[in-house]
Amino acid sequence: ADVRGRQVEPFNIVQQEVDIVSERLRHSVSTGIPALKTAAEYFFRHGMEGKRLRPTLALLMSSALSPSAPPPEYLQVDLRPAAEHAPELRRRQQRIAEIAELIHVASLLHDDVIDDAETRRGVVSLNNVMGNKTAILAGDFLLARASVSLAALRNPETVVLMSQVLEHLVSGEIMQMTATSEQLLDLDHYMAKTYCKTASLMANSSRSIAVLAGVAPEVCDMAWSYGRHLGLAFQVVDDLLDLTGSSSVLGKPALNDLRSGLATAPVLFAAQEELELRPLILRRFKQEGDVALAMTLIQRTQGLRRAEELAAHHAKMAAEMIRCLPVAQSDHAEIAREALIQITHKVLTRKK
Ligand code: FPP
Ligand code: MG
Ligand code: MG
Repeated sequence: ADVRGRQVEPFNIVQQEVDIVSERLRHSVSTGIPALKTAAEYFFRHGMEGKRLRPTLALLMSSALSPSAPPPEYLQVDLRPAAEHAPELRRRQQRIAEIAELIHVASLLHDDVIDDAETRRGVVSLNNVMGNKTAILAGDFLLARASVSLAALRNPETVVLMSQVLEHLVSGEIMQMTATSEQLLDLDHYMAKTYCKTASLMANSSRSIAVLAGVAPEVCDMAWSYGRHLGLAFQVVDDLLDLTGSSSVLGKPALNDLRSGLATAPVLFAAQEELELRPLILRRFKQEGDVALAMTLIQRTQGLRRAEELAAHHAKMAAEMIRCLPVAQSDHAEIAREALIQITHKVLTRKK
């Protein structure tokens, strides 16, 4: 069937199933330890879920590689029938969607402690409400839950992939914290860090979905590559929004990166043209007036435009990976692929 040109709303096709995954997460973080229960539930409350991009990507990738549409009964909002009706493979892939979100939220809880953040997603952060100690333990708890779910899949390859994500998240954070002067100005170092902090989770959960599906190794590579390129595009757009977006739309302070001493892709491009930016980057914008001066200097350059081009390049490569997949075996798979391609466009035009 020709689905090209048909309007596919990517978040809608798997919306119901993402709701099921979220609901299951909300249940699974309820623990017998009252302090942790409140803390862990904090991030899974209704209206606080964020975009749930990672579960959406995982489930769309599952459909994109699937030979047939899943039976409709499995999408019941009542959890038990949902779990029972979903075909075995789909159920296992839903676990990866859950694990990806657990890891993501755990990393945010820890990140907000490290960054001493007051808000997250426009709401007061957990460390701010309950203190650093509880926030760290809540993050650890979510990671523990993710580990149990992962082990329960009894698939060693996905255990390796998702554990590597944890390694990457930590090493990305360390790369950021310990960068030498030379590295601070180096776009390659920046992109390597960005893969670790943002793209690895998307890439490796995408690959895990493919591994569980039992598709050929080249197809697993394409699934990984889609997640990697999309993640890189996503983060470079994030960098741009930090410089160009308004804090009320973003739900966090604007120019947050500069203020916290980070030179992101647009700034590094700008510094290739405008040498005066370099000392500012190296002292992490710590002197009085540095942030405002940096903005003025950046605006004199093609930095923003070059970063837009970089994001567009990665978005295009991500879409290309989907187009290169072996011929879809069902309409269902074709529609999901169209949605995965649309997400590559949406990432570029998002405003928050
Ligand atoms: C957000 O970055 C942070 C991350 C994407 C990863 C953080 C990783 C750790 C804290 C290592 C520990 C990892 C685990 C799995 C517990 P940001 O501060 O640049 O952006 P944001 O605060 O504006 O979202
Ligand atoms: Mg942060
Ligand atoms: Mg951080």
